[in-house]
Amino acid sequence: DIQGFIFDVDGVLTDTAEFHYRAWQRLADEEGLPFNRQANEALRGVSRRESLLHIVGDRQYSEAALGEMMARKNRYYVESIQTITPKNLFPGAIELLQELRQAGIKIAIGSASKNARTVIEKLGIGNLIDAIADGDSVALPKPAPDLFLFAAKQIGLDPDRCVVVEDATVGIEAAIAGGMLSIGIGPATRVGAANIVRPNLIGVHLIDIQAQLKLAPA
Ligand code: G6P
Ligand code: MG
Repeated sequence: DIQGFIFDVDGVLTDTAEFHYRAWQRLADEEGLPFNRQANEALRGVSRRESLLHIVGDRQYSEAALGEMMARKNRYYVESIQTITPKNLFPGAIELLQELRQAGIKIAIGSASKNARTVIEKLGIGNLIDAIADGDSVALPKPAPDLFLFAAKQIGLDPDRCVVVEDATVGIEAAIAGGMLSIGIGPATRVGAANIVRPNLIGVHLIDIQAQLKLAPA
């Protein structure tokens, strides 16, 4: 049976995917690099460095310049998350977290972001979470399974006892690579490889998930 849930943060628990987008857009505009909301879709769940490399494309920058741009984007992003409060939790998130906790399910965070802890704190859900795997936990970014395997280990569970909740294609790929079940949040064009696909967390209940996962084994 399912014993643990591993939640991605940005775009799953709250709308920080939008904040990441705006910070990248600001940087791209300052650098005169072509970028827009549609191009940003490819960056969902992608690490800071990989995201920047994707945006600069063929343009040549020194390592120092890349480092400065990553720092600048992060300043914009960190500035924007200061306004986050528990009201910024996506609808259905707190209900699901509380239900899982009451059912004795272990809850971990599996986010590529080095800012995940700050976001969790600002959302006021630290007390509902047993372990955090973030952008500082492992070397290899999603779609490698390392981050989720690290999270599972933190909550003392085998991967096949865990369900990953993700909004990114690379996140679902990472869950599959780690031998975990997955719930994709968003359109099937993005998270269609997940065991279960839902538009958001509204009305997502453990009992339904367990029933659906039995019908759709990994
Ligand atoms: C998450 C987000 C990405 C972001 C990455 C790194 O995966 O979905 O948009 O690039 O984390 O975040 P960071 O806060 O460390 O730059
Ligand atoms: Mg995400």
